[in-house]
Amino acid sequence: MIELVNIKKGFGEKVILPDVSAVMETGKVNLIIGSSGSGKTVMMKCMVGLMEIDGGKILYDGQDFTNMPEQDRKNIRRQIGMLFQGSALFDSMTVEQNVMFPLDMFSTGTLKEKKARVMECLERVQLKDAAKKFPAEISGGMKKRVGIARAIVLNPKYLFCDEPNSGLDPQTSLLIDKLIKEITHEFNMTTVINTHDMNTVMESGDHIVYMYQGKKQWEGSNKDIIFSKDEKLNDFIFASDFLRDAKEMRQMEMFQEKDWRNKLKKS
Ligand SMILES: Nc1ncnc2c1ncn2[C@@H]1O[C@H](COP(=O)(O)OP(=O)(O)OP(=O)(O)O)[C@@H](O)[C@H]1O
Ligand SMILES: [Mg+2]
Repeated sequence: MIELVNIKKGFGEKVILPDVSAVMETGKVNLIIGSSGSGKTVMMKCMVGLMEIDGGKILYDGQDFTNMPEQDRKNIRRQIGMLFQGSALFDSMTVEQNVMFPLDMFSTGTLKEKKARVMECLERVQLKDAAKKFPAEISGGMKKRVGIARAIVLNPKYLFCDEPNSGLDPQTSLLIDKLIKEITHEFNMTTVINTHDMNTVMESGDHIVYMYQGKKQWEGSNKDIIFSKDEKLNDFIFASDFLRDAKEMRQMEMFQEKDWRNKLKKS
């Protein structure tokens, strides 16, 4: 579990996160949603220690990440996997070499062991056949999957993904979501995803934090969203007439289902 306790972050005079508290739950896909510029990436960078916070604290399974000695921080960082916005693969390296990179940096295993681990991860994301290809030779969805393989190669306890679906078609996006969800449950990881993608919200949102202008505006699950009365959240999620209609229909379905169950219970 990762806890954010009253974290504050700004750049010069400009305050980005005035005071955010939230919990990222273990074994769940935790989503941070919100419009462009609401502070999602800044919050994620603060969480992983790529940016220093100005106030408050961040706890990793109860350990104070903000105020711990540098060596302890490094130990936590080693348990963090990150998929950056836009995949951020090394263009001059093959898929296999990209996934090998964190092992070369941090693992003490033999070359044979490292290669076996790389293949295991590539197999997990169904990319074994693309091992010798370069990033320029594979599709956007495949690049994301290489990014995921690289993020999990060191068996992280915590997985962070910044916009894993940006630039992908809806079906490929759903496959990426499914993969992240499966891996999270399989290895009981604490996963945090920044996203704009409404399919992700509806399919994978075990726990959702909605950010509005740097503040936590709403928190709940994808099921709660259907019944939420929060106006800002509704404006953000159900932005079109089409989606507003879909929400109403879903609400009606859920009410009818409840009604049916009550009737069945009574009969
Ligand atoms: N290094 C930086 N220096 C100064 N301001 C920054 C820096 N990084 C981010 N900001 C500002 O912080 C605010 C939040 O940015 P952030 O990237 O977190 O938004 P976001 O919610 O991730 O948006 P998007 O959905 O477009 O990725 C923006 O106003 C941005 O200009
Ligand atoms: Mg961002």
